[in-house]
Amino acid sequence: MSSTLIVLNLKTYLEGTGEGAVKVAQACKEVADDSGIEIGVAPQFCDIYRVASQVDLPVYSQSLDPVGAGSFTGHAFAQCVKDSGAIGTLINHSECRLTLANIDASISAAKGVGFRTIVCTNNVATSAAAAALGPDYVAVEPPELIGSGIPVSQADPEVVTGSVEAVKRIDPAVQVLCGAGISKGEDLVAALELGSVGVLLASGIVKAADPGAALEDLVSKI
Ligand code: G3P
Repeated sequence: MSSTLIVLNLKTYLEGTGEGAVKVAQACKEVADDSGIEIGVAPQFCDIYRVASQVDLPVYSQSLDPVGAGSFTGHAFAQCVKDSGAIGTLINHSECRLTLANIDASISAAKGVGFRTIVCTNNVATSAAAAALGPDYVAVEPPELIGSGIPVSQADPEVVTGSVEAVKRIDPAVQVLCGAGISKGEDLVAALELGSVGVLLASGIVKAADPGAALEDLVSKI
């Protein structure tokens, strides 16, 4: 296995919901096995068990609430998410913004169950702030490029190199992913050349006519 990491966020795309989530996860598993590159998926909460029990690949939740066991209603409890089959979680996202205090508390809750933690950020300053909280990964994604089909590696390479530099200065153990508009092999290569260790992506794969073929293209140049 290479140290490159690809995480596919299924968001609430219909194509990645229910049995669709299983199908996309199966395509990820096949491409991961063939390429030796680690590929994980982040389905909706209700699909975590469905995906994790049918497909042998790393499953992440799209978020996690900083609550413990007890008198809490309507939350995603880390232990339950883990028991559903997830091995990690995304924390914070431009589509689901948290305060810094809640990001910190979510990281603690996730670490409490041994989860891999990926904190999404929107610029260099928030990447630096997130790194100070000690997650495993910071994934920088400029919001204006999310879902645009325009790769961050092309449109805003400085946000990636700037985040890598800022994160390394604060905590060299934290690794950087980048995302937004990533879908092609050359986008992944460019992301790695900018110093990230992988990508967080969604629409370019989930909404592709053939997600398996899109994933094959994504890993084809490394
Ligand atoms: O979490 C990944 C995401 O926000 C990037 O979305 O559709 O631009 O790959 P997309």
